Amino acid sequence: MTGKPLGDVTLAVLGAGRIGQAIIKATRHCVSRVIATGRRRETLEAAGRLGAEATRDNAWAARQADLIVVSVKPYQLPAVALEIRGAVEGKVVASIVAGVKLSTLRQAFPGAEVYRAMPNINALIARSTTALASEGNGRGPRASMVEALFKCLGSVYWIPEEWMDAWTALVGSGPAFIAEIVDALVLGAVMTGMPRDLAYRALLDALKATAEHLEERPTHPLELRDEVTTPAGTTIYGLAKLEASGVKAGLMSVVEASTRRGAQLGESIDKAVREALEKGLGSRRG
Ligand SMILES: NC(=O)c1ccc[n+]([C@@H]2O[C@H](COP(=O)([O-])OP(=O)(O)OC[C@H]3O[C@@H](n4cnc5c(N)ncnc54)[C@H](OP(=O)(O)O)[C@@H]3O)[C@@H](O)[C@H]2O)c1
Repeated sequence: MTGKPLGDVTLAVLGAGRIGQAIIKATRHCVSRVIATGRRRETLEAAGRLGAEATRDNAWAARQADLIVVSVKPYQLPAVALEIRGAVEGKVVASIVAGVKLSTLRQAFPGAEVYRAMPNINALIARSTTALASEGNGRGPRASMVEALFKCLGSVYWIPEEWMDAWTALVGSGPAFIAEIVDALVLGAVMTGMPRDLAYRALLDALKATAEHLEERPTHPLELRDEVTTPAGTTIYGLAKLEASGVKAGLMSVVEASTRRGAQLGESIDKAVREALEKGLGSRRG
């Protein structure tokens, strides 16, 4: 367990899928009660095995909860929002749904204190690096409760909402980029004749230690690079190859391109969710 217990808090996780189950697992011992929802029997059984009370009734779950985490896919959000909107007044709703903006969440969950959260895949091992955004940028009345909940999943950073796309590129997709880089370096070692398993394990050790080393001396990462780089030694020859291959410029544009794609997807997701909500509300009125 990473974060501190939140005390007598009931958490509802609406959408106990891949990431929803990771949230249940990591927060089960941080809160007093977890209720989880899904539609299929398999989903409910999996949530039950993790210690949550499982139900298909989103509105009931929302009514029981102090804190509601919405973890369905974007296209599933309008249906869930329409089901629970009568039950969220005065509650805290944190959405991890990619692309859906705070203004849309406010419309979807009237009277609730809304937050946007972006965990990453490392939530599966309770080591997520999670961004939180709120209209008060962390200063809402119950911001500390939301922060404490996500700290049970790993580390938490409050960011302005406009950085969410860059965050998703750097920290959300980041583990995929890092996995590619690890694979490439390991293949390089295999080319020299080293067994793959040994190269892989050794590189992971070096990667973890380098991250900790960089954290211990929070200056610029290139200071560490310069310490390793002996004149006419092996590192400078490798660095020259990196430079000639355009790897650094390539990685910079990876984050930039991924951020742009996030913004583009976010716009269309947010618009679709907003339209589906308006349609759903319209048919209720009509
Ligand atoms: N995966 C990640 O690494 C990650 C990271 C950050 C954010 N996110 C966001 O997290 C959300 C979920 O992603 P995921 O990968 O966990 O997807 P997922 O595995 O498909 O989970 C979605 C869950 O929602 C449930 N669900 C669908 N409609 C529902 C309804 N009306 N009522 C209650 N439950 C319902 C589904 O249960 P049934 O199958 O039983 O219908 C499913 O278990 C997405 O919006 C994504 O953007 C994911």
